[in-house]
Amino acid sequence: MIASEELQLPHVTKEQFTEVMRRFAASVNIITSADGEQKNGMTATAVCSVTAEPPSALIIVNRSNRSYGTIARTKKFAVNVLANDQRHLAAHFASKLPKPFSDVPHHSGTTGCPLIEGADAHIECVVIQEVDIGTHTIFVGKIVATGKSNRAPLLYHEGQYHALAERAQQGLSILQSKLSDTAMGPSHGKDQPAAVPKTADNLLMLLQKRALNLRQLFWRAHRALNQRITEKFIERGHLGMKPQHLTVLSNMNLGETPIAALAERAQMSLEGVASIAEDLKRIGYLQHLGGEKDKVSDAFTFTDAGWELMLTSFNILREIEAEYDAKLNKGDMERLRRILGTLYG
Ligand SMILES: Cc1cc2nc3c(=O)[nH]c(=O)nc-3n(C[C@H](O)[C@H](O)[C@H](O)COP(=O)(O)O)c2cc1C
Repeated sequence: MIASEELQLPHVTKEQFTEVMRRFAASVNIITSADGEQKNGMTATAVCSVTAEPPSALIIVNRSNRSYGTIARTKKFAVNVLANDQRHLAAHFASKLPKPFSDVPHHSGTTGCPLIEGADAHIECVVIQEVDIGTHTIFVGKIVATGKSNRAPLLYHEGQYHALAERAQQGLSILQSKLSDTAMGPSHGKDQPAAVPKTADNLLMLLQKRALNLRQLFWRAHRALNQRITEKFIERGHLGMKPQHLTVLSNMNLGETPIAALAERAQMSLEGVASIAEDLKRIGYLQHLGGEKDKVSDAFTFTDAGWELMLTSFNILREIEAEYDAKLNKGDMERLRRILGTLYG
């Protein structure tokens, strides 16, 4: 291989690489693999078709991923192309959950790899070539089975998930025609112009302007805040922290907290909460109380490290509030607090 130095070409820094690669829009996939009862899934954009004959595709997997070991051992993998309404699965399969398939509807394909229900398309592959490059391995797979639906795919660009614009437009047109059908009603005649109901009118206006409704605004703010808190934990050396951990931690009692109470407060399934709490136990922030096996009576409490983490979280929140103070002026920030207090206080 000829190094760029030998050709006297300029050197591209890691930052330049990351900056430019963020501009490459890509479909979002879950690469699945299985070894006996153990099932893996990892979110991946590094997936590419290779040749039609033999039908082949390649994936690029970080060797520190759990999926790497499984694929290297079994020589099999499947690629599930996520549909636009499955964006929650992108975060789910990037989180190294202990049992990532426990609450994701799926079935086993020809190769034994999990195929996710509701995906836009899938391929199943048998590995025919492997190439190591730096921290990653390129697996080239011969495609042995395929499947597709006609759902809108999910895209990833500049660190955000998006819908395909044309499909979004198509959806809007369908919605528009359905709404005007409803507005016309059965007695609609040529001389009676249709009066679109006010709510439908507003909905269309929001969609056309791509404006955010209140729910989306709050959700984005909540997600951004959790992301910022997680980054600050990681900066402080709490490397295993993930945004979903905050959902469980922020709903813990000072003393013992039953899983059922956590699930209710976090508005999550018992299984979902139990799996995050187990993750926090593994990292060392929570401890399990009692030897019960059934989830409803399971309970968790903070460990000493967990208490320290909570103290750190107060400092982090103070820092973030100061950041918000600096972004908004003081009057705006005060008004925001007052308004939110009135709405939810
Ligand atoms: C949008 C997105 C794309 C990703 N693409 C890849 C990829 O192409 N290859 C890879 O090795 N990791 C990729 N990752 C990271 C893995 O999904 C992540 O490390 C995951 O936790 C690995 O799971 P595992 O350890 O259970 O295999 C991506 C993550 C996200 C959010």
